[in-house]
Amino acid sequence: MNDTAVLEVTGLVKHYRGRSRAGRRNGPVRAVDGVDLSIGQGEVLGLVGESGSGKSTVGKCVSRLVMPTAGDIRLLGTDISRMSRRRLRPLRRDVHVVFQDAFSSLNPRMKIGDIVAGPLRQHRESDTRERRRRVGDMLERVGFRAEMAARFPHELSGGQRQRVALARALVMGPKLVVADEPVSALDVSVQASILNLLLDLQHDMGFSCLFITHDLSVVEFISDRIAVMYLGRIVETASREELFAHPQHPYTQALLSAAPLPDPGHGRARERVVLSGDLPSQSKRIAGCPFHTRCPVAVDRCHRDVPALTGVTAGDHLVSCHLVTPETGGPDITIGRNGIVHHTP
Ligand SMILES: Nc1ncnc2c1ncn2[C@@H]1O[C@H](COP(=O)(O)OP(=O)(O)OP(=O)(O)O)[C@@H](O)[C@H]1O
Ligand SMILES: [Mg+2]
Repeated sequence: MNDTAVLEVTGLVKHYRGRSRAGRRNGPVRAVDGVDLSIGQGEVLGLVGESGSGKSTVGKCVSRLVMPTAGDIRLLGTDISRMSRRRLRPLRRDVHVVFQDAFSSLNPRMKIGDIVAGPLRQHRESDTRERRRRVGDMLERVGFRAEMAARFPHELSGGQRQRVALARALVMGPKLVVADEPVSALDVSVQASILNLLLDLQHDMGFSCLFITHDLSVVEFISDRIAVMYLGRIVETASREELFAHPQHPYTQALLSAAPLPDPGHGRARERVVLSGDLPSQSKRIAGCPFHTRCPVAVDRCHRDVPALTGVTAGDHLVSCHLVTPETGGPDITIGRNGIVHHTP
């Protein structure tokens, strides 16, 4: 393994059992269908993709809230993919998760101080006095005064609750934080303050982060590296600068060209069409490239062969598309204001 990798995932697959409908059983839902990724020490990897592409499932597998169907998940060199609960317990100090909805993830009957102290108690870390000190320190780090410890979740705003969730996730000094849409439920003005806080804490404490979002402006703000997911697979991964400057996969190009303009007053941009059609059902296996059913430039081969995620340019820019080669680069796709796809061969 790469010795700086905090997390190394190979061949990750998670199939959920399909729901039966009208007496007929659907096939399994292929939520994650062969994902490789790694996160270096102190690195933020942004995982971005449409709703249903499998982002949360990746997050749940790497934090072992669910058991993967197949694949390796190496956390600090140890494969945790099939570990029992009991053997996982000591490793739980190294990975913590922050969810979108802090309200439902914070026990309404517990005081903030006890919520943040939860992981310390679970891991029998330090005595009561020392715990109180660490909780106070952590609350301060996320921008609260010590009095906050005595309050209850319902007295707090959404942004404050997300700070509490962050404090709880970080109190053990984890190596990896999985943040699943942590700011999606917040007002845009509050989002920025939470993202800045997360980056400051990450800088000070040095943890690595898998940051899950469907929001391109958030992923651009927060990530060192970005992985774009589509239908349970990663279709492109590169450094943030490289991905935004030279997107190669037709799906990434479509996503980026449809991103809202930075000026929030520019209402029209938000209405632009991304791609025609919805994400296909994950309970049917698609032959060939998973994107071919919506790809504006698909050729015969794309209906037949699954493209591998391979390097196309220097560095660690990887793309999974038959049409992208080191010689030609990617097909050049832009999406017009009216949703019409333009392709410059
Ligand atoms: N417990 C489950 N049982 C059955 N299917 C599931 C389960 N959890 C997720 N799925 C399905 O797996 C697919 C991927 O879901 P997932 O929640 O990982 O996507 P996501 O990219 O996080 O989407 P969103 O942006 O909406 O959060 C979806 O089709 C979803 O319906
Ligand atoms: Mg999700």
